[in-house]
Amino acid sequence: EKVVLAYSGGLDTSVILKWLCEKGFDVIAYVANVGQKDDFVAIKEKALKTGASKVYVEDLRREFVTDYIFTALLGNAMYEGRYLLGTAIARPLIAKRQVEIAEKEGAQYVAHGATGKGNDQVRFELTYAALNPNLKVISPWKDPEFLAKFKGRTDLINYAMEKGIPIKVSKKRPYSEDENLMHISHEAGKLEDPAHIPDEDVFTWTVSPKDAPDEETLLEIHFENGIPVKVVNLKDGTEKTDPFELFEYLNEVGAKNGVGRLDMVENRFIGIKSRGVYETPGATILWIAHRDLEGITMDKEVMHLRDMLAPKFAELIYNGFWFSPEMEFLLAAFRKAQENVTGKVTVSIYKGNVMPVARYSPYSLYNPELSSMDVEGGFDATDSKGFINIHALRLKVHQLVKKEYQR
Ligand code: ARG
Ligand code: SIN
Repeated sequence: EKVVLAYSGGLDTSVILKWLCEKGFDVIAYVANVGQKDDFVAIKEKALKTGASKVYVEDLRREFVTDYIFTALLGNAMYEGRYLLGTAIARPLIAKRQVEIAEKEGAQYVAHGATGKGNDQVRFELTYAALNPNLKVISPWKDPEFLAKFKGRTDLINYAMEKGIPIKVSKKRPYSEDENLMHISHEAGKLEDPAHIPDEDVFTWTVSPKDAPDEETLLEIHFENGIPVKVVNLKDGTEKTDPFELFEYLNEVGAKNGVGRLDMVENRFIGIKSRGVYETPGATILWIAHRDLEGITMDKEVMHLRDMLAPKFAELIYNGFWFSPEMEFLLAAFRKAQENVTGKVTVSIYKGNVMPVARYSPYSLYNPELSSMDVEGGFDATDSKGFINIHALRLKVHQLVKKEYQR
C-alpha cells in the first residue's frame, strides 16, 4: 500500500521513512520547498537511499507568497498580538500539495513527522481532512507501536545507524527550528527556560539591531487592494514588482537592519504554553506598511469591525483552520474591506525599527480641509457642542445615581 510522507531530510522523518518501509508500505517521499535553505538534491538522494520508491520535490514558494502570505496580510494576521504565523501559514499549503500527490499516486495514506504535543500535527491533519476525508493518516509520534520503539533521540540515532541512514550530528543545531520564506522559528533546547536570554547564535537570519547599519533605509511600498505590488528603495532606486522577488527583497533589507525579531511565550492550540523565538524580517515590514495605508483609505467603522475579527482570523490560522467555512466567510469580508487599500507607504527602516513616515492613496479618505486645525472646511464647530452634550447625558445620570447610593 502506498503512503505519501512529508519528508524533510532530517533524522525524524528519515527514521519514519525507514520504519514505514519495514512495515511493508510503498513510501513516496514528498519534500515541500517553501523557501527553507536546504540542499534539495541531497535530500532527494537521501530519501531514495533510505527506501523511498519515488520522491517529489515541490517548489511551492510563489504560491506561498501570493496565496498564503499575502492572504494573511489582508487581515493583518497576528497571533496573540505578536506572532506573524510564519509556520502556521505554510502548513496548509504543504499539506494541500501532499493530498494532491496522494490522489495522483492513488495512495490511501498520508504521513507526517510532527509531534503529538504541537500545533503542526493539527494543522496537517485538519488540512488532510478538509481536502480529502478519505485519506488515512499515519502520525508515528501518536502511534503506540512507534512510541514504544522510539523513546527518545538516542533510539532514533541508534536505529538510523543500524539501518545505514546518514546522520549529520555535528551540523545539527540544538533547537527545534522551522524555516520557510516567511520566517525561521527557534524552539526547545536552552530556549525552554523562558527566563533564559537567547544566545546571539540562535539568530540565523537577522543581525542584531545593535550591529545594524547606522543609516536609515527608506522604502516605498505600493499596494493594490491590500496586495503588495511594488517596492522601491528610495536611496539606490532598486525596484521589485514580482511578488516573490519583492518579498525576498524585503527579507534581505529587513534582515540587514535587524528587523523582525520576536521572543514570546505563546499558547498552543492544545493548551500548552511554549516559548518561541522568531525572525520575520520581510513580513514585519509589510504588515506595518499595510496597516498604515489602511489608516488613510479604510472607513472608520469598517476598520473597527475588521479589527474585532482580526484576532479570530489569526487564531483560525494558528489552529489549522485555513480550509474552513469560517475562514471563507472572514476572507470574503476582509477582501471587501481591502477594496480601496491602494496606494503607497514610505517606511523608514533603522536598527530594528520600521516606521511609516509618509503615505499616499488615490482613494484617500483623508480630507485636508476637514482635518485641518487652521481651516474651517465646511465643518460647523458649534455642532460639536450638541454632540458632546448628548453623549454626556448618560454619564451625568450615572454619576447622579452613584452618589444617591453612596448616601
Ligand atoms: N510555535 C510556532 C507555531 O506553532 C512554530 C512551530 C514550529 N514548528 C516546528 N516544527 N519546529 O506556529
Ligand atoms: C512539533 O511539535 O512538531 C513542533 C512544534 C509545534 O508543532 O507546535
